[in-house]
Amino acid sequence: MKKALILGLVACSLMAAPVQAAEDAEAPKSVDWSFDGIFGHYDRASLQRGMQVYKEVCAACHGMRLLAYRNLMDLGYSEAQVKAFASQYEVQNEDPNDEGEMFNRPALPSDRFVSPFPNEQAARASNGGALPPDLSLIVKARAGGADYIYSVLSGYAEAPKDLKKPDTLHYNPYFPGQLIAMPPPLTEGAVEYADGTKATVDQLSYDVTNFLTWASSPKLEAQKSTGFKVVLFLLVFTGLLIAVKKKVWSAVH
Ligand code: HEC
Repeated sequence: MKKALILGLVACSLMAAPVQAAEDAEAPKSVDWSFDGIFGHYDRASLQRGMQVYKEVCAACHGMRLLAYRNLMDLGYSEAQVKAFASQYEVQNEDPNDEGEMFNRPALPSDRFVSPFPNEQAARASNGGALPPDLSLIVKARAGGADYIYSVLSGYAEAPKDLKKPDTLHYNPYFPGQLIAMPPPLTEGAVEYADGTKATVDQLSYDVTNFLTWASSPKLEAQKSTGFKVVLFLLVFTGLLIAVKKKVWSAVH
């Protein structure tokens, strides 16, 4: 009886092993980001363009439920612009009306981003069984961070001839396993930028990755400037200590 149980468990664990060993993904492309380095800062124009890409392309499948519309003021939008932006979406009011029925109202700046699907099952059903992850923290959640996200978005390629691949999956050498359920989301001219920037796949990927990085680390600029001040303080303080030490010991021969 016990033996049968153990055999059963072993069989189960063997079946759970991946059918095809995941091929190693290619190392992400190395991008020169404005937010890298100790003086790193966000490129506001790129963040605004990236927000547009998210809104017009990615938001059809991916939510960003940790962002509130008012957070967009950080990107340089005015309160009125954020209000107008939020009001394009509908949310359920917190309280019922006088008849006790729940009702929808236009979103307010204090509301969180509306997700495209009501639940995980609905999201999977619309995406051939795959789940488009929430993008609020995706840059932090993936090894390789912004470079990786940029590489996946801009790195779709023709599948090698000898690769057997189901029609529902797409070849992307940067994605672990190299087969991804997300169809190539970006094509040249997918959005029309108001500032006249040419919307190539690389540019679209760059801008939306900037936006997703800001969403993952909105306080990055403040943290870098505090870090810089701390280092500066420590340098000055060390100098002072050396001067004091020299002075105190100068009388001792
Ligand atoms: C048609 C629906 C659809 C659209 C539009 C779409 N995605 Fe996806 N995305 C998916 C699905 C489905 C997955 C899950 C893929 C998988 O697990 O194989 C995914 C996965 C991802 C991942 C995770 C990759 C990983 O490492 O797990 C990122 C990042 C991503 N999408 C970003 C974007 C961005 C940015 C856009 C807009 C430019 C976008 N997606 C547009 C459906 C979509």
